[in-house]
Amino acid sequence: MSKRIGILTSGGDCAGLNAVIRAVTLRAELKYGWEVYGIKQGTMGLLARPVQIERIRLDQVDGTLLRRGGTILGTTNRGNPFSFPQADGTFMDRSDEIVEGFRQSGLDVLIGIGGDGSQAILRGLAQKGGIDYIAIPKTIDDDIGLTEHSIGYSTAVAVATEALDRLQPTAASHDRVMILEVMGRDAGHIALAAGIAGGADVILIPEIAYKIQNIADKFSEIVKSGRNFALVVVSEAAKMEDGHSCTIKDTTGRERYGGISHYLADEISKATGAETRFTVLGHVQRGGQPVVEDRILAQVMGVKAVDLIAEGKFDRMIAWQNREVVDVDLQEAIAAYQSVDVDGTLVNSARGLGISFGDETFSN
Ligand code: F6P
Repeated sequence: MSKRIGILTSGGDCAGLNAVIRAVTLRAELKYGWEVYGIKQGTMGLLARPVQIERIRLDQVDGTLLRRGGTILGTTNRGNPFSFPQADGTFMDRSDEIVEGFRQSGLDVLIGIGGDGSQAILRGLAQKGGIDYIAIPKTIDDDIGLTEHSIGYSTAVAVATEALDRLQPTAASHDRVMILEVMGRDAGHIALAAGIAGGADVILIPEIAYKIQNIADKFSEIVKSGRNFALVVVSEAAKMEDGHSCTIKDTTGRERYGGISHYLADEISKATGAETRFTVLGHVQRGGQPVVEDRILAQVMGVKAVDLIAEGKFDRMIAWQNREVVDVDLQEAIAAYQSVDVDGTLVNSARGLGISFGDETFSN
């Protein structure tokens, strides 16, 4: 039976989203003869009247799209339809309008590419409207449960690692402590992976509390070994020593992480006397071409999502487990938030390499 598949991207963008859109279109058209429709700006496209959807044709999904950063559909990480901000500062439930928009669009099934927050919203809409829904996990933060990785994470880690590659020679040239602040919202996965890959001396993540004195002691140890510079990677969500988060407010009053590397630069400088500099990597981690891992993840997940539709399996999330693409219960995946395992292989291996998390004291 012919099907019309709707696809949308939701939440912050990342590398690999277009590769998913392409893979879904190729599989749907080539294997099943089904049509794929892109919904614009996440759920906003279903809130608009007329609904903003557009057929994605085979000639639009050539190899260029596979490589392209961002999302051709647009996305948003604001405006939860269940609590939609109004001009007067109040909030309104507009979920019924989105469900109605989906009905008006004539779509049979929805594929949503998003992080855990988006997936919770999209599942809520699907449940409310009786929409056949399949989730594909994407987020540079890599904090969605039941999948080893989410689309976008590997590219973000590669960008952060390259930043460390570039900071290391300038740190060495000037005898400085260089601090790199990376994204990751509430989880330290990017900082941890990039810190190991980029040869950091200190990795600071929200999952492990640190003391400035321990970082200073680590630096003394480095100096004793004959090196007079150091690399520190900090996750944006790492807290200050007193346990408070570093946040900034934008003009709309919305709070987000920001400022931890500035704080650390001052504190480390005071504690060690070393010259410090900080770099905030920001959205550079989200844009640009996807790396190999994200291209592969995006494409196998896209194909799997369409095959699940053919099987008639819904309310599922596509996941990567044990070198295989699988599908898992969506509600369980949303509930299984994945922060850094502080006793896991990566943290233990980092410690084995002499990398400090600022939680250990140094005896010499
Ligand atoms: O969730 C992805 C992410 O990039 C986080 O790592 C970061 O904290 C946040 O989005 C930034 O959001 P925005 O694009 O709204 O600044």
